[in-house]
Amino acid sequence: MFGKFKITTILASLMILVLVASFTIMQPEKEQFFLSDSDDLWAVYDKLGKIRFNAVNTSIVGVSVEKGRDIINKGYSTKQDGTGKTAQQSPYFKCTACHNKEKEFDDLSNVSAQNRLNYAVKHDLPFLQGSSFYGLINRKTFYNDDYQKKYGHVPIIKASNTDIRKAIQLCATQCAQGRALSDWEIESIIAYYSSIGLKIKDLNLKPAEKKEIETIINKGTDLHQAVHLLESKYLATSPAHFANHKAYTPITEAEKKDTESFKNGQLVYEHSCLHCHEGKRYSFFALDNSKFSFINLLNRTKADKDGSIYKITRHGTWPLAGKKAYMPLYPMEKMSEDQLTDLKIYIENMAIGNNLAAQ
Ligand code: HEC
Ligand code: HEC
Repeated sequence: MFGKFKITTILASLMILVLVASFTIMQPEKEQFFLSDSDDLWAVYDKLGKIRFNAVNTSIVGVSVEKGRDIINKGYSTKQDGTGKTAQQSPYFKCTACHNKEKEFDDLSNVSAQNRLNYAVKHDLPFLQGSSFYGLINRKTFYNDDYQKKYGHVPIIKASNTDIRKAIQLCATQCAQGRALSDWEIESIIAYYSSIGLKIKDLNLKPAEKKEIETIINKGTDLHQAVHLLESKYLATSPAHFANHKAYTPITEAEKKDTESFKNGQLVYEHSCLHCHEGKRYSFFALDNSKFSFINLLNRTKADKDGSIYKITRHGTWPLAGKKAYMPLYPMEKMSEDQLTDLKIYIENMAIGNNLAAQ
């Protein structure tokens, strides 16, 4: 009797256990969020409740990533209704004369000019005056710092500081010296920028940081902490500080043996100056690797006129009468004082026939 009771109790408990277990298994699990390297940063921000800025206005007819990409790369696209071609945006430049579309830094929170040059050399990119379009959609302000200080009195430059559409239009008409873009063209460029926004892999998050963000999203609390962490991994602006030009000083004996500076200067020359001047690609002034080019640049620099490499890099040229091609200045973030010195050391050594790279 006692034994039978025991068996039924055990059987009953077992059945309850099985029931409870199957019930737990059947309960739908809350889906867990995992960060992946290919996640778009904006998609993660959406999960963190951040309101998207620079969002594409999809209510405009004919807007597409493809058209935006074409305007940037080719200077024209199919028309708004998809038939035929638009007029060329600029007779002088494509946007890619002055802007890359690729990532430009290993560490997007350290945007020094030398990091940028090293990255450009490693990835075979040009080294240009404009900031890359990669990750531009994640930036909050445009034409920053000295662009505002120096030209902020011009209404469109001021407005462009916080308005991506005005920044695009400003550059199309002023930097590229071309026709104004229509609203669907600007919106298509924004659609294209959205397709080359920052990805999680670009932020070099440590495993523990990824875990922290996943936990925050799964719990749904302290969302701002995750936003803060993500924002610390890149700059949401392109800093721009102008430098004044230096005066020419003759090359020193030490500089005639300074192979390191020489080689760095050569990288600046080849990845930057030649991008526009080789074969008169984006200018009427031709430069190449001949001794004549270096002597020409050295003579201009000695003469200390507008064509001095010190003046042309720090002040650029201006479209004088009417529309024409011009050379934008390099802020220090786009060419540091040291890099400019290295460029001068390279040019002057090459002009006197002292090729330190050949030794
Ligand atoms: C002749 C050179 C040149 C050309 C051509 C050019 N740009 Fe620019 N652009 C610049 C410079 C220089 C800046 C200064 C700010 C920066 O990029 O850091 C700039 C800034 C911008 C900015 C603001 C970037 C920022 O983060 O401050 C946008 C957007 C832009 N350009 C879009 C375009 C588009 C679109 C085209 C083609 C229709 C174009 N640009 C053609 C030189 C140029
Ligand atoms: C984004 C394109 C671009 C880049 C990069 C560039 N330039 Fe220019 N540069 C121009 C344009 C456009 C002009 C205007 C005159 C012309 O069309 O020839 C010009 C003008 C000049 C002039 C004056 C030419 C004259 O007619 O008197 C010199 C000198 C010069 N650049 C040197 C350089 C050097 C050195 C570098 C590299 C540090 C450089 N440029 C980088 C586009 C560029």
